[in-house]
Amino acid sequence: MKLITVKNYTDMSKTAADIIVEHIHKHPQLVLGLATGSTPIETYKCLIEDHKQNQTSYQEVSTFNLDEYIGLDPLNQNSYHYYMKSNFFNYINIPEQKTHIPNGEAIDVEKECEDYEQQIANHDGIDLQLLGLGSNGHIGFNEPGTSFKTATHVVNLTNDTRQANARFFDNMEIVPKKAITMGIDTIMKSKEILLLVSGENKSKALARLLHGQIDPTFPASVLNQHSQVTIISDYDALQNTV
Ligand code: F6R
Repeated sequence: MKLITVKNYTDMSKTAADIIVEHIHKHPQLVLGLATGSTPIETYKCLIEDHKQNQTSYQEVSTFNLDEYIGLDPLNQNSYHYYMKSNFFNYINIPEQKTHIPNGEAIDVEKECEDYEQQIANHDGIDLQLLGLGSNGHIGFNEPGTSFKTATHVVNLTNDTRQANARFFDNMEIVPKKAITMGIDTIMKSKEILLLVSGENKSKALARLLHGQIDPTFPASVLNQHSQVTIISDYDALQNTV
C-alpha cells in the first residue's frame, strides 16, 4: 500500500480530487466507485470546483456507490441517493443513468444485490474505488467478521455503526438497521483503490490497518492484499502509527 501523508483534511481532499481528475483525464470512460460519509465531502467539493474551473467532463464517466440503507426513499435526506445528488452529482455533468447506487427500496433486495454486482461486471469492474475507513475497520458497510469473499449483499448494521451514523438522524430509533453494500470481494476486484483517512478518531483504525494482521475481524486489513492501494492520511490520523 502506498501512503501519502498530508497536513490536514483540506490537503487530503485536494490530493484525492487531483488523483481522481488525473484518472478522468487519462481515461474519460472511467468507472469510478464512490463513498459517502463525512470523509469525502470536501473531495467532492474540490471535484466540483475543478469541474467549474477546468471543465473536467463526467459525460462518459460511470459511477458505482458502495452502499445504501434499506428502506429509505431516495428523497430522504439521509439516503445515500440524496447525499450523492446534493454533494456531487447535481453540480457536475454526469448523465443520471451513468450513476449507480443500490436501490434500498427494492422489493427483492437479494435480487437487487445480484443485479448490482452484474452491472459492475458489465462495466468490466471498477477502475478506481474511493473508500473511507470505519473506526471499527469497516469498508462499505462490511462490518467486522464479514468474509473476504462476499459480493454485494444485505447487511445488518452493528450498533456501533448505527450510533456513529445517528448524528445524521433525528433519533436513534429511525437509523436504519439494514443496508445493501458492495462486498469485500467486489471492492477488492477494483483495479485501484483510494482510501481516505482523516482525524484522530481514525488513528487507531489506521494503525491497525498499517501494522495489524490481515483478518476478517478488521475488514479493511484485506486491503493489504491488493496491489494498487493508495492511502491518503492526514497527520491526526497517523498519530498512533509512529
Ligand atoms: C460510506 C461507507 C462507509 C464510510 C465509513 C467512514 O459509503 O461505505 O464505509 O466510508 O463509515 O465514514 P466517515 O467518512 O463518515 O467517517
